[in-house]
Amino acid sequence: MKNGKFQVGIIGTGWIAESHAEAYNKMEDVEVVGLADWIEGKADRFKERYGLSLAKTYRSHQEMLDDDSLELDAVSVCTFNRQHADPTIYALKKGVNVLLEKPMCVTLEEGIAMMKAEKESGKILSIGFQPRFDPSMKLMKEIVRSGELGEIYYIQTGGGRRRGIPGSTFIEDKTAGLGALADIGCYSLDMCLDAIGYPKPLTVSGFKSDYIGTNPKQYNEANRFSVDDFAAAFIRLEGGVILDFRIAWAMNVDTPGDTIILGKEGGLRIPSTDCWNGGFGDMKIYKTIAGQNVETVIPAPNAGFNDCFYLKCRKFLDAIKNGGKAPVPTSQIIYNQAILDGIVRSAELGREVEIEIPEI
Ligand SMILES: NC(=O)c1ccc[n+]([C@@H]2O[C@H](COP(=O)([O-])OP(=O)(O)OC[C@H]3O[C@@H](n4cnc5c(N)ncnc54)[C@H](O)[C@@H]3O)[C@@H](O)[C@H]2O)c1
Repeated sequence: MKNGKFQVGIIGTGWIAESHAEAYNKMEDVEVVGLADWIEGKADRFKERYGLSLAKTYRSHQEMLDDDSLELDAVSVCTFNRQHADPTIYALKKGVNVLLEKPMCVTLEEGIAMMKAEKESGKILSIGFQPRFDPSMKLMKEIVRSGELGEIYYIQTGGGRRRGIPGSTFIEDKTAGLGALADIGCYSLDMCLDAIGYPKPLTVSGFKSDYIGTNPKQYNEANRFSVDDFAAAFIRLEGGVILDFRIAWAMNVDTPGDTIILGKEGGLRIPSTDCWNGGFGDMKIYKTIAGQNVETVIPAPNAGFNDCFYLKCRKFLDAIKNGGKAPVPTSQIIYNQAILDGIVRSAELGREVEIEIPEI
């Protein structure tokens, strides 16, 4: 820190970088000193737009991270998925803490490489799952962890949209690598896995498709579409929990259903969610008491949509300041990534696959 202020850089000045700049602008102990983007003039325009007068601009993450005059404490990596691993590893090797946007990456190998770099650096690598800081999400986790539902044995989760393919760099293999599966699927997985303590995934039988995204009659950028628009999987987790998962950017129905968590003593219904902002409506708990089937509605707390984006950045910096652990640690998210990776492998092979995660 310089004069008590974090020296922060942002790599990739596209859409999601906006929420990072807005969050950092609200913090008195942060100076955004560097902005990097491959596209000529993009970082400069971003600097103007967010009034980041102290920031120097660069054309690549290497150029920015090689500039020792910045004395960077931390970077937000806000690049498309295929460029998550390289800038993250480069930053960690330079001794800079990293807040990396979700999904962690595209392949499990990239995830492992990032974790190795994190371990060797002794720095913090936190993954950008802002829904974790949303009040509804926190309440849901408290309910599951309270033990009221008993031992959890089955979860049905997922979400999605009838039509809602994001376009931009999200729809091409060369930039995104994965489609709905990783873009919003990673949130659904995180919601449930985090609630039950992130058990290790063991096997997965997965499916993915691109029927709507590649159909010019259904989607106006079909010629560019080269990722999945729908995915589903049956996942076995350590401890005998079953995760039944489906996710869609586009499908011919309004919702693939609510999330349900079944325990031996009770069940929980979480209404279908947009996935990314953490917010959802009233939950319902199902129990049988004195032979009576009882349902209890848990009203949704006030969801601070903008707050969770701020908290994602704030909690990351607080962990650096206080010598703490990453608020969203790679030790958990590597399981999320391993499931995504397993779904892809299984879908390609047309059969169930084992999930193996090398020691780091
Ligand atoms: N947390 C959220 O709610 C949320 C929302 C949207 C996107 N995201 C994630 O954020 C990431 C970026 O999404 P986006 O919509 O901002 O994408 P985007 O395409 O708008 O922006 C990415 C930018 O990164 C630049 N870039 C890529 N690699 C680079 C490198 N090595 N050095 C410098 N610049 C580089 C590109 O030129 C581009 O301008 C994705 O992984 C996405 O999943 C998260």
